[in-house]
Amino acid sequence: MSVIEIEGDAPLKGRVTAAGSKNGALLLMAAAILADGPLTLSNVPDVRDVRTLAELLRQLGLRVSAKQPGVYEFEVEDESRREATYDLVSEMRASVCVLGPLVARRGSALVARPGGCRIGPRPIDIHLRGLRALGAVVEEKEGKVIVGPSHLKGCEMDLAGPHGPTVTGTGNVMCAAALAEGRTILHNAAAEPEIQDLAYLLNDMGARISGIGASTLVIDGVPSLHGAQREVIPDRIEAGTFMIAAAITGGDVLLEKVSWEHMGATVETLRRIGVSVERELFGCRVTVPGGPDARLTAADIVTAPYPGPATDVQAPFSALLCLAAGQSRVTDTIFPDRFTHVDELNRLGANIRMLDAGRALIEGVDHLSGAPVHAPDLRACAALILAGLAAQGVTRIFDPEHIDRGYDRIEEKLTALGARIRRTET
Ligand code: EPU
Repeated sequence: MSVIEIEGDAPLKGRVTAAGSKNGALLLMAAAILADGPLTLSNVPDVRDVRTLAELLRQLGLRVSAKQPGVYEFEVEDESRREATYDLVSEMRASVCVLGPLVARRGSALVARPGGCRIGPRPIDIHLRGLRALGAVVEEKEGKVIVGPSHLKGCEMDLAGPHGPTVTGTGNVMCAAALAEGRTILHNAAAEPEIQDLAYLLNDMGARISGIGASTLVIDGVPSLHGAQREVIPDRIEAGTFMIAAAITGGDVLLEKVSWEHMGATVETLRRIGVSVERELFGCRVTVPGGPDARLTAADIVTAPYPGPATDVQAPFSALLCLAAGQSRVTDTIFPDRFTHVDELNRLGANIRMLDAGRALIEGVDHLSGAPVHAPDLRACAALILAGLAAQGVTRIFDPEHIDRGYDRIEEKLTALGARIRRTET
């Protein structure tokens, strides 16, 4: 069993580079299924979810070759393979992003149904509704989504769900519509940067998608798509995590290679809390006026689809607000059950109370104290690392492997900024 051990209370200082976006890379990799030639992606982060999807793509008949660190080439070799099996889908729910490309290119697919997870239910009803609207013959049986031989035809549809648009659902339907016959109009499509980047990649491959970045996408189907090359966008969630790390330790960190335009809500929230964020030529600098001893200010946060505050930084921001003076209310409208970090942060001396589903009240405390904690999921683990960096004494995070799903060498990067963090095997 491994444990991350952090000796906290040390301000982080220095430069750190944001890795390529995990969620962006996953969507682009799945699009390789659609291409008639090789797809080359650079700036691919070295995280477990990417390795899991690479394994799934091999299972689906693609050749995956590492060209140099962070650069991979994907090419379809065997189109007869159509099944994404439960062992890989259960490992990573985002595996469902192969569904749309498989249906579009191979006409049929068999994908194990992803279940719920620690952050709550993860339905795929909107993905299936969208594919059905395009003419896919979809059946759900024995834990699998089975799509029979289908001829896809463009249509007009609304992708809205009870919690707003769906990110991977938009990706699936957009990929399917790219090869459907005729025009598809998608209302209430997700506009997240990762979805925008998928649309740009598809256009590079010969697709005809317009309205990129807006909530209505117009997709004129084409008969085939060719190979392309693309650099994965910087990970706005990893970048947000490092910005919060600088803030929670009262440090001074220059974050390089971030896309400033993707960081709007994170920057705005940090500034409201009293953190200084200045744009630099290739990134931004995060400092706390008054240094490590300054007290930050409580703030309310309500997560929302892009460009609103991302649900993926809700747990990291909650860790920061534990140390801000006053009361903060944190509401997660996207994943109301995504509060598994609350009990663990309270073990470190935080004062957080759930008001009702999806809403937490944080009463700021003047310090956190190191303690053993358990990491329940990826972003909750990030929140515990942040809290541990600020806490007095030693924090031991058990089951920290979740962090490897989405953060590329996080301990190494934090150590370079002066954090006292190490992973040990017990
Ligand atoms: N939803 C439905 N029906 C559907 C699909 C989604 O009701 O068919 C609901 C979900 O239950 C949720 C909301 O719609 O309440 C949004 O879910 P969405 O489909 O957008 O989430 P996702 O595509 O499964 C991606 C990211 C998540 C991120 C969410 C929201 C990937 C691989 N995953 O998930 O990232 O939290 O969008 O932005 O892109 C993470 O990186 O830690 C992570 C969980």
